[in-house]
Amino acid sequence: MTKVTLIRGDGIGPEVVSAAMETLAAAGASVEWEEVRAGLAMHKASGEALPEDVLASIGRTRICLKGPVTTPVGGGFSSINVALRKQFELYANLRPVKNMPGVASRFEGVDLVIIRENTEGLYSGLEHEVAPGVVESLKIATEKACTRIARFAFEYAANNGRKKVTAIHKANIMKLTDGLFLRCARDAAKDYSDIIYDEAIVDNASMQLVMNPHQYDVLLLENLYGDILSDLCAGLVGGLGLVAGANLGENHAIFEAVHGSAPDIAGQGIANPTAVLLASIMLLRYIGQAESADRVQAALRKVYSEHRALTRDVGGSASTREFTAAVIAALK
Ligand code: NAI
Repeated sequence: MTKVTLIRGDGIGPEVVSAAMETLAAAGASVEWEEVRAGLAMHKASGEALPEDVLASIGRTRICLKGPVTTPVGGGFSSINVALRKQFELYANLRPVKNMPGVASRFEGVDLVIIRENTEGLYSGLEHEVAPGVVESLKIATEKACTRIARFAFEYAANNGRKKVTAIHKANIMKLTDGLFLRCARDAAKDYSDIIYDEAIVDNASMQLVMNPHQYDVLLLENLYGDILSDLCAGLVGGLGLVAGANLGENHAIFEAVHGSAPDIAGQGIANPTAVLLASIMLLRYIGQAESADRVQAALRKVYSEHRALTRDVGGSASTREFTAAVIAALK
């Protein structure tokens, strides 16, 4: 049994996380959940959004499955996601973006991997008021973090049969910060001669992605561009319900859906648990339970390709429970 910290999260989080737990149990995954609470509901209940026992649990288990948490806009407590990434130095955010069979989307055959720097850039939280009516936000880039994420991207490409890494930047304007990011990417590229390296300016890359996503393979991005373009890429394959991400550090890993807590549909039992299931599949592979991961993956693809019991966001009419039951029934 591998102990894994579990955070159900806010909004649709508890609904989709329960679906994943049931499916993993039915697939024979050998996981013992250590459940802790974080997020808006926890903040309302206890005054703390990210209590100490959450950090202690992840520190101990080193692995976490996390449902989405609500972050107040423009005030309130700081992002739990950003805090967790910083606390455990989860410097790499890995998001595979691939079509699901049978889901109508803008493009077929999309197979991209987004690798986002997760610890600095404009997410450093260094914002202040310079004078009334004037505020400042600092974008931080360090050689250490830029090199670490660039090497991660090339290593990932080399180990996963990927052919090309494209660094996305705005170094024409942000000559120092994005300039450093590019320099580190170019340096890393020199050690991976089998992998094609190229670069694209973020505005052009956004247009290229919606015109012809097939030209890209692995995308290497700093924090903000990675955040924005990963949602854009989710839109290429059918939406946020279908993309998962891993936050990876040297010693700890947190797996989650890319989507948020979806307050507009929370409590209605209609959320799509696919993204958190895909996150669970990544988690199972990470802890060496490839067999269970393969079973869940095959069941998911079967349910999608037969267009059975799909949820509304992907053109069906099934509830979260009906979809989950179909995936469990499709497990071999
Ligand atoms: P969102 O991803 O929660 O929702 C965007 C749209 O996609 C909504 O219409 C929602 O109904 C739909 N959607 C999302 N996931 C779905 C699913 N599994 N099945 C069916 N439809 C789904 O983004 P939004 O509304 O911008 O953010 C809501 C809250 O979530 C905010 O407080 C935000 O800070 C938080 N958030 C948390 C994240 C995390 O914990 N990793 C990531 C992104 C946002």
